[in-house]
Amino acid sequence: MTTDTIRDSRTPLLRLTNLTKYFPQFRQTLVKRPDKPIRAVDGVSFELHAGETIGLVGESGCGKSTVGRTMLRLLEPTAGTIEFEGRDITGIGGSELRILRREMQMVFQDPFGSLNPRQTIGSIIAAPFEIQGITPEGGRRKAVQQLMERVGLNPEHYNRYPHEFSGGQRQRIGVARAVALKPKLVVCDEPVSALDVSIQAQVINLLEDIQNDQGLSYVFIAHDLSVVRHISDRVVVMYLGKVMEEAERDELYERPLHPYTHALLSAVPIPDPEKGERRPRILLKGDLPSPQNPPSGCVFRTRCPRAEQRCADEVPLPLEVTPGHRVACHFPEERTIL
Ligand SMILES: Nc1ncnc2c1ncn2[C@@H]1O[C@H](COP(=O)(O)OP(=O)(O)OP(=O)(O)O)[C@@H](O)[C@H]1O
Ligand SMILES: [Mg+2]
Repeated sequence: MTTDTIRDSRTPLLRLTNLTKYFPQFRQTLVKRPDKPIRAVDGVSFELHAGETIGLVGESGCGKSTVGRTMLRLLEPTAGTIEFEGRDITGIGGSELRILRREMQMVFQDPFGSLNPRQTIGSIIAAPFEIQGITPEGGRRKAVQQLMERVGLNPEHYNRYPHEFSGGQRQRIGVARAVALKPKLVVCDEPVSALDVSIQAQVINLLEDIQNDQGLSYVFIAHDLSVVRHISDRVVVMYLGKVMEEAERDELYERPLHPYTHALLSAVPIPDPEKGERRPRILLKGDLPSPQNPPSGCVFRTRCPRAEQRCADEVPLPLEVTPGHRVACHFPEERTIL
């Protein structure tokens, strides 16, 4: 191994530093007045290495999709930096950004809404080639049909329309489109949440197969902590726009430290309830605060069973408790939940 390859293997594919996305708000009075912005993402930092999958979890509205879209520069970041293969891409635009899109793609949750109903499958999957002005060897049609075969679709169905496919097949079309240009990073935003459980496993297996073939990295956004445990190497737990905890997968599931992670894990269904096992569910008090008015100090403190005065006064900074295991909490506690 040369020094170059050693250095390369240490540069993460993606590095987010204090990534922040606020959505400006306005009060509709007689004249339009600025209101407090929605702090959808508020200082998120993590790294993703080549070939790795990071799971991004947290309840609805905590900012997962916004992180995913902002890291791909589909949304303009308010602050912070995005580095891709060591290069700062936070402010790039125009043709530079268009070229970068070959490397970074997205699979959306809704396989119905994300495909144009008036386009054939062939032209949907060929769109990335078209946008980038790329003609693959053997022509676009052949490349698309190879992709269709790769994702488990019949290449003869090239001229069919989205409504002629089932939900699982449509998600395969979404995957084919995302991987058409052999990207290095794919953000999968709840890619299986809308599918039947039996179909979910097939799509997850497909994503894993493609990762093994192409060595790409995933940011896998999901509500379902069992699916995330299956697919992820590392897991990032978000709450109200901030990272609460981050760790290698088994470490997070076996030794969770943040009270919010404890609550999330306590809600995971027990695989075999027939065995008579019971897991006490940690119920959080109160409602999710508005991201327009997040609590002072630790944003989780208004719902935290362990909160004390210090939590209102002081923002907890992420602390690395063991290598790679970071927790942003003044009173972390080791607990076995699963
Ligand atoms: N375009 C937008 N304009 C204004 N507010 C937005 C916009 N997109 C998201 N938000 C707000 O930002 C916050 C984070 O939303 P986001 O969709 O990122 O959460 P999420 O974790 O993906 O939720 P879910 O699990 O429901 O998909 C929410 O309060 C949401 O209402
Ligand atoms: Mg979302």
